[in-house]
Amino acid sequence: MSRPVRIALIPGDGVGGEVMAEAAPCLDWAAVRGRCLEAVPLPYGAEHYLATGETLPEHAFTALRDGCDAVLFGAVGDPRIPDGRHAEQILLRLRQGLELTVNFRPCRPLLPGFQAGLDLEIFRENTEGPYCLQGTTEPGRAVDFAIHTEPAVRRLLETAFQRAAERGRPLLLAHKANVLKHGHGLWLRVFEDLRPQFPGVATRTMHADALLCALVQEPKGFAIIAADNYLGDLISDLTAAYLGGMGMAPSLSWAPHRPFRCAALAEPVHGSAPDIAGQGLANPVGMFLSLALLFRHLGWEPEATALEAAVGEALQAGFRTRDLGGTHSTTEMGQAVRSRLGR
Ligand code: NAD
Ligand code: IPM
Ligand code: MN
Repeated sequence: MSRPVRIALIPGDGVGGEVMAEAAPCLDWAAVRGRCLEAVPLPYGAEHYLATGETLPEHAFTALRDGCDAVLFGAVGDPRIPDGRHAEQILLRLRQGLELTVNFRPCRPLLPGFQAGLDLEIFRENTEGPYCLQGTTEPGRAVDFAIHTEPAVRRLLETAFQRAAERGRPLLLAHKANVLKHGHGLWLRVFEDLRPQFPGVATRTMHADALLCALVQEPKGFAIIAADNYLGDLISDLTAAYLGGMGMAPSLSWAPHRPFRCAALAEPVHGSAPDIAGQGLANPVGMFLSLALLFRHLGWEPEATALEAAVGEALQAGFRTRDLGGTHSTTEMGQAVRSRLGR
């Protein structure tokens, strides 16, 4: 028998636990359908940090890196830890420590009658830029460095080019090289360098500020967008609005060069939403769709398609959490999706 696919479950904080509770049973469903998998629940998050002083201990990180294949992640962020220290040491540590260069954030609206036919895909670099967390606060002065390295930029852009070639769609690079001459200058050079390898891909570069205006005015004029970590973060929250809001947007990160056994992390785009946490108001759709992206990444296409279809059918049937203008609770929405999964 083949080795089970081991998936670490990290619910994290706030609504992270609520949306995880809805999505995790889909792993049991996949197992019943014959997928050989093992879920590995992990406690890391604000509660664990406040109780023990541990964020993501090194032994836990290495065990996950070498003993799991993927992570399903809820969200981190807790008002009791205002500097977000634990979030950095858990989520950013996973993204950076596992070298999950590619963060894929698709935007294909599923709400009936809302932005139908839009098909955007954001490829966000996931480990560098200002997320290097190097800087200083001095009296009267504050500095944040941003680091961009050619291997990571190349990996991200190659992945985006390959996707554009496969789908026969244009690729756009968002940048601010007019100001960030060094970092984004590197992005433009690598983009230019890769272009001849993908002669079938129509390419374009755009200043990110102008892009945001055009994305609001004419989203259907865009297809596949590549960006650095910081710009990709902003662009993907803007495109989440076309899905119906933060609760709807999925993401999957992976390491195309597979340096470790654990090479993928699925998480919704949203955060821990402290304003609605603990009230059964969270929308679990972004989490379900993130798990579907992970299923597809693992080669489990029938499960990915079934889960996406179940979400679409639950929305068609009128299930809506409060963020979508409805009154269904997190668990009612979760149940509506799972009950449409079939066998
Ligand atoms: P947020 O995404 O948590 O919330 C933004 C808005 O979207 C809020 O109004 C919230 O109620 C709403 N929202 C978010 N998720 C929702 C859901 N599933 N259903 C319905 N509504 C939802 O962003 P924020 O308020 O800027 O940040 C809150 C905390 O989360 C901070 O500590 C932040 O650092 C952290 N954060 C974590 C992640 C992550 O773990 N990947 C992502 C973003 C923010
Ligand atoms: C996201 C979040 C994170 C980010 C935060 C929580 C560090 O906003 O996943 O988009 O900025 O990457
Ligand atoms: Mn974000």
